[in-house]
Amino acid sequence: MKYDDVMKLALERGFYFPSCEVYADAQAGFWEYGPSGVSLKNKFLELWRRELIRRDGMMEIDGSQIMSKSVFEASGHLGSFADPIIKCTKCKSTFRADRTISEISNVDIPESADLQEFDDAILQNNIKCPKCSGEFEKTKKFNMMFRVGIGPEGEEAYLRPETCQSIFVDFPRMFKTMRGKLPLGIAQVGKSFRNEISPRQSLLRLREFYQAEIEVFCNPSRLDDVEKFSEIQDTIIRVQTDSEPVAMTCKEAVESGIVPNKFVAYYLGILTEFYEKTGIDITSSRFRRLGEKEKAFYAEAAFDFEVETTIGWLELVACNYRSDYDLSSHAKKSKEKFEVMDNDEKVLPHVFEISMGIDRSLYTIIEHSLKDDKENERIVLSLKPYLSPVHVGILSLVKKDGLKEKTDEIYLNIKRKFDAFLDHSGAIGRRYRRLDEIGAPFAITIDHQTLEDDTVTIRNRDSMEQRRISISELGSVLGESTAYP
Ligand code: GLY
Repeated sequence: MKYDDVMKLALERGFYFPSCEVYADAQAGFWEYGPSGVSLKNKFLELWRRELIRRDGMMEIDGSQIMSKSVFEASGHLGSFADPIIKCTKCKSTFRADRTISEISNVDIPESADLQEFDDAILQNNIKCPKCSGEFEKTKKFNMMFRVGIGPEGEEAYLRPETCQSIFVDFPRMFKTMRGKLPLGIAQVGKSFRNEISPRQSLLRLREFYQAEIEVFCNPSRLDDVEKFSEIQDTIIRVQTDSEPVAMTCKEAVESGIVPNKFVAYYLGILTEFYEKTGIDITSSRFRRLGEKEKAFYAEAAFDFEVETTIGWLELVACNYRSDYDLSSHAKKSKEKFEVMDNDEKVLPHVFEISMGIDRSLYTIIEHSLKDDKENERIVLSLKPYLSPVHVGILSLVKKDGLKEKTDEIYLNIKRKFDAFLDHSGAIGRRYRRLDEIGAPFAITIDHQTLEDDTVTIRNRDSMEQRRISISELGSVLGESTAYP
């Protein structure tokens, strides 16, 4: 199923939709999650916490979205977090230089290239404004930070462009008060903000977006001293250094030097295991090692976890080895101490980051799970049952003869343990179709036999098979079938 099919489902079934849509001045790049989207997001995050955060005893914090100017002077965002832009001399429209050049001429220039490279490509390929065919001005840098004014004097502060800055700033306090020990993972889920020039494709390029970030603080002299490596050494990861991704075990990736050390390979392994459990087709994924010009300004080495979709490869996670870039910058600017003890050694930790884009991940899960079941004339969202926005639909066959009351009673008993959707109206076939589209793995129907023997039919979304079970079994059947792995 394609991007447009996902969009239609998202709009019609409460997954996501444009923000402020009733107003003409609604801005691009802002989207809202409806009930189905929120439920999917919460379940995705619960899986993330199980597979990554709790697995390794990481800490989770929840920091401010607005942070002071000093943070971003130290982090380098005020100086370096900028996109190359080009402006039309005629209609004054502005575009991202790298994307416009690539779309019109197929020439790929990394966003961090010298500005002259963009100007040369525009000249050599005779690139004109896509809107009015006008000439472009020279390429400029545009800083993507959203500035806010605090208090009546409008003191300068910024919406964070990545959640991790509070993790870095809070590191000394966390290490001390939570009795930290290296390696230490600190995580955060929340919103980040980037003033994108051309936000587009709904959840895929937003100005306000969700991140789930993990920063693992480590002793740089112990990157191959990873106790837990044996847990994932045989896990297959797909790594791309040249033209094609190559499947290899984590152990092979380290031994061949494709992944620099066991520490990095461990996190690439557990990240792959996590995404496998989301239902994404992992054979369509790759860790792409970024070249010098593609890496973010703070990264010493970087692997993007990308997944193939019908609109191309999407970067879902940036895995950056940030060295001591952030801690040393904040230590210098704040004049606070960021070194900690690792056994008897005093170290300024290095950081490996697993920066996950939640919105893009949810889009990809939906696209990979959405099926056109032509034989049965239905669209099915075959989500993993533990991720489904609704675990079970509860339907009365008809409303009369006391069936409505019996259905309401079953719903009341179930709804606090499971995400249940009560539906009394419409043809039963159409009600099943609606549940299939939001990915509900089960539907329970209450009919006349229920009143006689306290049994219901339970329908399986994928096989469409129905069987009768007693009401007393419902809790255990649903509990086992929707449990996290
Ligand atoms: N913290 C890395 C990123 O936001 O891309």
